[in-house]
Amino acid sequence: MKKDTFTFTNNKTNESYEFDILEGTRGPSVVDISTFYKKTGMFTYDVGYTSTASCRSDITFIDGEKGELLYRGVAIEELAENHTYLETCYLLLNGNLPTSEELLDFDLELRHRSFIDENLKHLINSFPDRAHPMSILASGVSALSSFYYEHLEDTNEDMRQEMARRIIAKIPTIAAFSYRKSLGIPEIYPDIDRSFTENFLYMMRAYPGGKMKRTKDGSNEIKEIEVKALDAIFTLHADHEQNASTTTVRTVGSTGAHPYVAISAGISALWGRAHGGANESVIAQLEMIGDVKNVDKFIERAKDPNDNFRLMGFGHRVYKNFDPRARALKKLQDQLKDELNLDSKLMEIASKIEEIALKDEYFIKRKLYPNIDFYSGVILTALKIDRPMFTPIFVIGRTVGWVTQLMELQQSSEFKITRPRQLYIGK
Ligand code: ACO
Repeated sequence: MKKDTFTFTNNKTNESYEFDILEGTRGPSVVDISTFYKKTGMFTYDVGYTSTASCRSDITFIDGEKGELLYRGVAIEELAENHTYLETCYLLLNGNLPTSEELLDFDLELRHRSFIDENLKHLINSFPDRAHPMSILASGVSALSSFYYEHLEDTNEDMRQEMARRIIAKIPTIAAFSYRKSLGIPEIYPDIDRSFTENFLYMMRAYPGGKMKRTKDGSNEIKEIEVKALDAIFTLHADHEQNASTTTVRTVGSTGAHPYVAISAGISALWGRAHGGANESVIAQLEMIGDVKNVDKFIERAKDPNDNFRLMGFGHRVYKNFDPRARALKKLQDQLKDELNLDSKLMEIASKIEEIALKDEYFIKRKLYPNIDFYSGVILTALKIDRPMFTPIFVIGRTVGWVTQLMELQQSSEFKITRPRQLYIGK
């Protein structure tokens, strides 16, 4: 059968070059330009890789026009509503949802692996007071490579799975310890009687000795709706194809570096305001706006080409109609509002921004819609989580995605060090 090809013609020399067109199972076709330089003596130019597929992958699929996101073929809405985060982790790592027995084994293994070496705890404690938890988290995960140096040599699937389960289990503990260090309060060790997500809330909230805060109505436990909401947040963040932090993880991994160092690099990449740091910036911005009566003024600023003010939590490189994760979170936000009886000023401002922006010509024309960060910050605030922990929570959710992408890279027959070229414009 004849392969489809794409012909490039150099209009200066009239020479034509043919390249294969590759077909995936879904999404746009891809022109294979890996021999472009060899054939033409030229490079291609694509700042920010907006038109470049950097790998073959069967993990996550996004249709930005349709607002569709699938993990291993399963729709994100189905996972967020009907499955837990741990089931989603299993799905990403193994390609299928677990049976109840497989889930139980996976869950128990993660609970038992959730503890960290005491020396890593000392390292976390040596950070200055009020250090941002993201900086402690990135360093802690990088340091984890020295506690599990053997993962540098992982050569088979079982060893790689162990490496993956270990980091997924420990990330919430390192994140919670980082948070408590940033507040100057003693850390709380994991409680293996609690589920993955409940345990994280427990390590964040408990008093020394593992006691929970007493309230006047006698309730001192973590509410089920809170666990459900945070679990869905983890699920909705679990993977997102070849975004900036995942590309960073793959790039560092492509050099043969230790997997936990590659993940630490992903954490650093995620921290930026244009990526995972946006959820923190959304709340900072809502607080700065301060009152619904000021919303119009800030919308005008966002539209002013001479003002570099941007509405945080709006716009996305890939989603140009709606972000399906944002839609799922909006539903969750409304549910939380009802069940927790929330009457928050921030929610009021956020709703007003959303209402105005979705009808405004500027945002419609540029296809700017609320993204996942627009809602996650408001929900995390409702869960009484402090702002500096928003991005670490994104990290906890995303770790499974990074590690799955890294494992796919390690097993790929096309494994190659990442090495783009440039258009030199210097002396
Ligand atoms: N507020 C106001 N205007 C905006 C916004 C915004 N949030 N986002 C984009 N625009 C405008 C730009 O000014 C530009 O206008 P112009 O055509 O008149 O020059 C146009 O929309 C296109 O913007 P780009 O920056 O080219 O779009 P790109 O797809 O490269 O950027 C990004 C996507 C980085 C997410 C951008 O929309 C943004 O900065 N948003 C705010 C930060 C944010 O929410 N980041 C989280 C992303 S989701 C995540 O990482 C999980």
